[in-house]
Amino acid sequence: MNSTAPDFIPHRTADGSLTLRSATLDEHYHSVVGAVNESTHVFIKNGLDAVLGDQAKGHARILEVGLGTGLNLLLTWIRCLEGKCTVDYTALEPHPVSATNLEALDHCADLAWPGLHAPFVERMTTRHGEQWEEHGGLAFKVLPTRAQAFVAQAPFDVIYFDAFGPNTQPDMWTLDVFQRMHAALRPGGMLVTYCAKGEVRRTMQAAGFSVERLPGPPGKREMLRATSV
Ligand SMILES: C[S@@+](CC[C@H](N)C(=O)[O-])C[C@H]1O[C@@H](n2cnc3c(N)ncnc32)[C@H](O)[C@@H]1O
Repeated sequence: MNSTAPDFIPHRTADGSLTLRSATLDEHYHSVVGAVNESTHVFIKNGLDAVLGDQAKGHARILEVGLGTGLNLLLTWIRCLEGKCTVDYTALEPHPVSATNLEALDHCADLAWPGLHAPFVERMTTRHGEQWEEHGGLAFKVLPTRAQAFVAQAPFDVIYFDAFGPNTQPDMWTLDVFQRMHAALRPGGMLVTYCAKGEVRRTMQAAGFSVERLPGPPGKREMLRATSV
């Protein structure tokens, strides 16, 4: 798996937002039915917002598995800029997306936040491990660590589990990886993913999670939310 392979090229999804697509792998970074719709529904509404609950202005420590094009990061940052929360965001990404592809995707234009483009690309192309102190409510770092080797230094409140699907990358959906994710969350913390496969749900349960099937984003019947108990 090498996401920097040249055949990952921008592809417009049905909600008008862009993702990356590989014809060779027959894989996309997001749902072709809508990248922004999927990310907002799965990770922001059912992940971040659910963990923050009714707090007027909460704080969350977020782990993202698979930073990719940074769409989840950007949607989270916008939540911070809207005054809803502050976030400490750690992302895992062994195969960073190229600056050329980030420019071509121009997620900030799609989201009508053109002023965020330069600081967003700066963070996305940052050196691995460099800590960006809080700016606009968001502190950020990206690590090259693979999920299969990740050990958290301090507990997270939410995990955005946004790996390629189990058919493309089965080694991301194993008991060992979900045990690592369980160990990385505080009690009551939540892992959310777009995937709703029964086998994945059972593997999460075996790792110690309590798992809910929730209505999925447009184009998908269900998604999963796993709570650390
Ligand atoms: C579905 S894409 C992520 C989409 C991304 N969240 C976005 O908004 O663009 C999956 C990502 O997982 C990354 N990845 C591949 N192997 C990984 C591993 N072992 N650990 C963590 N991430 C990995 C890929 O490089 C890719 O960027």
